[in-house]
Amino acid sequence: MKKIVVLPGDGIGKIVLPEAIRLLNAVGFQAEYVWGDIGWEFWCKEGNALPQRTIDLIAKHKIALFGAITSKPKDAAEKELDPSLKGKGYVYFSPIVALRQIFNLDICIRPCISFKGNPLNFIRKKIDGTYEEPFVNVVIFRQNTEGLYSGVEWTNPPKQVREALETHPKMKAFANVPSEEMAISTRIVTKKASERIIKAAFEYARKLGYKSVTLCEKPNVLRETSGMMLKIAKEISKDYPEIELWDTNIDAQMMWLTKNPEDYGIIVAENMFGDIISDGFAGLIGGLGFACSANIGEEVAIFEPTHGSAPKYEKLNPSIVNPIAMFMSAVMMLEHIGKNEIAQKIRNAIAKVIEEGKVRTYDMLKLKGGPDVFEKGAASTQQMTDAVISKLE
Ligand code: NAI
Ligand code: MG
Repeated sequence: MKKIVVLPGDGIGKIVLPEAIRLLNAVGFQAEYVWGDIGWEFWCKEGNALPQRTIDLIAKHKIALFGAITSKPKDAAEKELDPSLKGKGYVYFSPIVALRQIFNLDICIRPCISFKGNPLNFIRKKIDGTYEEPFVNVVIFRQNTEGLYSGVEWTNPPKQVREALETHPKMKAFANVPSEEMAISTRIVTKKASERIIKAAFEYARKLGYKSVTLCEKPNVLRETSGMMLKIAKEISKDYPEIELWDTNIDAQMMWLTKNPEDYGIIVAENMFGDIISDGFAGLIGGLGFACSANIGEEVAIFEPTHGSAPKYEKLNPSIVNPIAMFMSAVMMLEHIGKNEIAQKIRNAIAKVIEEGKVRTYDMLKLKGGPDVFEKGAASTQQMTDAVISKLE
């Protein structure tokens, strides 16, 4: 039987992930779930939020479903460490960022597709004063391992770094700035990783019939990194004559977000820009309660909602949070392992619940989160799962 590693993590990750498994069981997906330790609890107890045994589990079974983790700044993290571990050099790092690096999960896919009848869908005012609701069907391909998030950065850069940078004429502008007053984050883009993400975007567009792939960068300013990506995109696009290559600048794209989101199909970008643009589009289709994602490498793939652990809501019982982002992440997992029919069943059931509009979590009712949302008509997390299960065919 297929084995899936499940990593609930912290906060609402512990709530939405078990609900996804309840749904997967209800739809008849045959799998064995192997639970893995990850998150804040293990940082506090063991000084490691991502124990080696968890890495080994994922390496063995290759497919994981992940909930969310809590990350805190360095000092706060040190404070919560078990007293016996304090001062022993343990340093907190984000386990999901680490997983992306360890398994080279370089392709991040974030679909932002509106569900009919979702009260959170973006609407646009027309010139005659009436409104229209454009159907958004965008899938963002975010380079997940390098670019501005590669982690090559310094505050007070060492002398060799400073000297190396000073070989560039533009560094003259900073000649009089003392190193201790300087912070540097690098944006490293490589040919191989760019080719992989851009090719993946085009392949996906071809497979699912999208008519365009948009490279969303800033090549007029970031001439080297964005420039290289654009050059590669132009080259790769030659193999996909039926798909148009568009290129937009990240800033302009954010402005066009609400002007013509329905015009875009696949969007591909470097790590940081991909992060920005995917949150932007997610906002048009319902926000964090709907934003799902896949992190895909050559061997391992991890599926997760893009939201965090929402500590504000973790203790509410019954829980109020929307499990749909987690469900849609499980749908992405099913598609990845070729269970398209089961995936479609879940997707249809979610669509029916949303369109019918009888069962809605607090976010869908535009309520402020809290224990009083139920008396205002909101469904609990578990009631949402029940509603989706009841619509499975
Ligand atoms: P968050 O995504 O956890 O929550 C922000 C707000 O979004 C919540 O207060 C809530 O109003 C709403 N929200 C989130 N998920 C929702 C859902 N399923 N249904 C309805 N509403 C939902 O982000 P925040 O508060 O910035 O971070 C909390 C913790 O999560 C931090 O420790 C942060 O480091 C971590 N985090 C972890 C991520 C991950 O595991 N991949 C991603 C983002 C944040
Ligand atoms: Mg983000």
